[in-house]
Amino acid sequence: MSTYEPVLLARIHKEQSHTLDSYLADGGYESFKKALGMTPVEVTTLVKDSGLRGRGGAGFPTGLKWTFLPKDHPGPIYLAVNGDESEPGTFNNRILLEKDPHQVLEGIAISCYAIRSNTAYLYLRYEYGAAWRALQKAVAECYERGIFGKNVFGSGFDLDVRLHRGAAAYICGEETGLIESLEGKRAWPRIKPPFPAIEGLFRKPTIVNNIETMACVTQILKRGIDWFKSIGVPPDPNNPRDAGSYGPKLYCLSGHVNKPGCYEVPLGITARQLIEEYGGGVPGGRGIKAVVPGGISMGFLAPSELDTPLDFNGPGKVGCLGLGTAAVVVIDDQTSMVDVVYNTARFFAHESCGQCTPCREGTNWMQRILHRIRSGQGRMEDLDLLLEVSGGIGMMPGTTICGLADGAGWPVKNAIRKFRSEFEEYIQSGRSTIKPCELIGAH
Ligand code: NAI
Ligand code: SF4
Repeated sequence: MSTYEPVLLARIHKEQSHTLDSYLADGGYESFKKALGMTPVEVTTLVKDSGLRGRGGAGFPTGLKWTFLPKDHPGPIYLAVNGDESEPGTFNNRILLEKDPHQVLEGIAISCYAIRSNTAYLYLRYEYGAAWRALQKAVAECYERGIFGKNVFGSGFDLDVRLHRGAAAYICGEETGLIESLEGKRAWPRIKPPFPAIEGLFRKPTIVNNIETMACVTQILKRGIDWFKSIGVPPDPNNPRDAGSYGPKLYCLSGHVNKPGCYEVPLGITARQLIEEYGGGVPGGRGIKAVVPGGISMGFLAPSELDTPLDFNGPGKVGCLGLGTAAVVVIDDQTSMVDVVYNTARFFAHESCGQCTPCREGTNWMQRILHRIRSGQGRMEDLDLLLEVSGGIGMMPGTTICGLADGAGWPVKNAIRKFRSEFEEYIQSGRSTIKPCELIGAH
């Protein structure tokens, strides 16, 4: 077991950890005060030099994103904090917000100062009721004590933090869908460029950052760059474009494990370490058939790939889309991959916003073909048809406004490539694993 001592989750088991008094007793908001004693450029440079990469899924360097804001813009500039955590298997942001909302709010305050924004919007997933209540209380406490509002800590800096509750749709977490939703519209993603840093909320420059990223900003200000860079994985010397995978990460472990949960460990832990050392292995000592490395859209690790480091590079080297949200889902050897992939396809077909034909139609076709296979009516050529729809040139990948289509196609394509014989055997057997209750409303 790693000797790493959690930092982001250090306070969550304390009594009343969500209150301002508890947070202040642990040195809370000292990092914000420290930032206010620096210039915004100095804070941005610090975050950039720390190597922090966004924790929402894409792993884009946070400080670098901040530097994309137009220089000398008259404002307003906005920070939109993405708490619409909807990737299946992902719940790290929920834990931070329920148990330690001030750590996140402090990161938001620091980030606003760094990007010269006086207004942050925190967009929270509708279903997160406990987090919503904790946040409302925490924000009110900050206004009462002068941490938010006019002239915070006598610095001359004004800060408003506004909470917005989402509408229970996956697409609201796509950054431009989130922006549209904040503007009161249907969350239809926008074509990029322009990226939000240039034209975002209310057509003004906007930085969209994830909740865990904000908590990391607080800790980087508090503990410094050397601390952050002492954790994780340095850049790959053979890859000049690699920015490394520094810092701690919250991995969400679920599925067939004895001890599911959210674990804070250094970036780069392997799937096997996470499952065995933290998750206590698979119930009943059963074998592992596959592991989702970072949210369902990333694809699957096969049993021979469990020693893959779960850093920003590792999963990509074994055919997965990336690390994504670091939501690790364990699938045991009693589970049908046909069922797993069908569930994935059904999810994305339901969540596609429908703007782009390849996504709207492609997700629906994949669901229907997989339903046919599951119902015992599958044909061998269905597998190549699925590969064509999910990955063919001019089909779903790269032809749509946002990344949902790519993320929907990848697990289908990846599962057929890695587990093709299981799909073939399923089709040949002509059996069906559909339960009668599933037929209600099925295609
Ligand atoms: P992306 O790679 O398109 O963008 C990443 C970030 O960098 C964005 O904020 C974007 O605006 C910015 N950016 C990239 N190039 C830029 C440029 N040239 N100029 C200015 N800004 C630039 O990825 P995206 O679509 O934002 O995120 C995809 C990931 O989100 C997926 O890989 C998935 O893991 C994750 N995701 C997470 C969910 C969650 O619940 N946390 C839900 C769904 C997806
Ligand atoms: Fe909507 Fe899908 Fe197009 Fe994204 S790719 S904008 S979810 S239709």
